[in-house]
Amino acid sequence: PRVAIVFGGRSAEHAVSCVSARGVLAAVDRDRYEVVPVGVAPDGQWLVLPDDPAVPAGGGHEPPEVRPGAGQGVVLAPGPNGAALVALDPVAGAVAVPASAAGNAGGERGGPDRPGGLDLDVVFPVLHGPYGEDGTIQGLLEMAGLPYVGSGVFASAAAMDKQHMKVLLSAAGLPVGPYAVLRAGETLSETDRARLGLPVFVKPARGGSSIGISRVDAWEDLDTAIKVARGSDPKVLVEAAIAGREIECGVLDRLGGGEPETSVPAEIVVDSSAGFYDFEAKYASSNTRLDVPADLPSETAARVRAVAAAAFRGLDCAGLARVDVFVTPAGDVIINEVNTMPGFTPTSLFPRMWAASGLDYPALVERLIELALR
Ligand code: DAL
Ligand code: MG
Repeated sequence: PRVAIVFGGRSAEHAVSCVSARGVLAAVDRDRYEVVPVGVAPDGQWLVLPDDPAVPAGGGHEPPEVRPGAGQGVVLAPGPNGAALVALDPVAGAVAVPASAAGNAGGERGGPDRPGGLDLDVVFPVLHGPYGEDGTIQGLLEMAGLPYVGSGVFASAAAMDKQHMKVLLSAAGLPVGPYAVLRAGETLSETDRARLGLPVFVKPARGGSSIGISRVDAWEDLDTAIKVARGSDPKVLVEAAIAGREIECGVLDRLGGGEPETSVPAEIVVDSSAGFYDFEAKYASSNTRLDVPADLPSETAARVRAVAAAAFRGLDCAGLARVDVFVTPAGDVIINEVNTMPGFTPTSLFPRMWAASGLDYPALVERLIELALR
């Protein structure tokens, strides 16, 4: 079968997606699948790229180089492999591969350089955030009649919006933390300040990789935090800080159908001087300890897995998701969020949790594509 790996995209997580895709591209079994890398530039331009044999197997496991840059605060620098990916790296100035070269790649396949004109069997949208993880590309693929990896339109849209995700999860009887929603122009009422207490986390409603998120320890810093979050989304969530351990759990559909499978949970232990699990801690900081599996009492681990599976079901997710929770000192599990296209970067927990559960990175990628083709 011919599989398109779509990466990059229009969201602030463009660079994260490029690094996720580097891992996925390196893991696809070329004996089974013909691979068509499709890059989406930050301006939304789609480019069909040649499959790059220079990406070595396991290439996705090299740590990416991360350094501060303009605009989004941090950008990922290109590595030595995967010219196609480097071409779309923001450091390289968006698109270094000339459109004509990309067109030739399509031409070599005897088709036009638009994905819709390619003869594809399945699409793996390795895209994070808006215009990728939020139901938009899923809708496009539905209309084109193309099977794709991961959740459908509704679950993608629902999980992308932290407000509606919480509304749906609580309606399904699942535990979420206290929060307030601020639409454009609104600020936090005195009542909500008293209800949520300090510290709070201020987040864009539809974002990812902690971009635009601030931890606020004093109310005088709230307005700045709201402004930062509104740089990503006019709708902002203010969430109460949950005292507890930060635990994540992978969920995967089974090829035979039925209840989804869950991975062993993992724990994120952030150096408290670093503040919280922000972009730097996610992709660059050596002060973040990732315990895979998490050192949890077995009944707590079982509860995390049950809650993760229920959240997956509650939002009608498909294929895969990573459910992020807090485990309180009393052992209660509170859902922080559900990610329908979790990171596949070398520091991302989703593939590592599955590896620790007996499904290595190539087998995971294979399973996801098989699920989509099913
Ligand atoms: N949004 C990032 C990619 C994640 O959840 O892993
Ligand atoms: Mg997220």
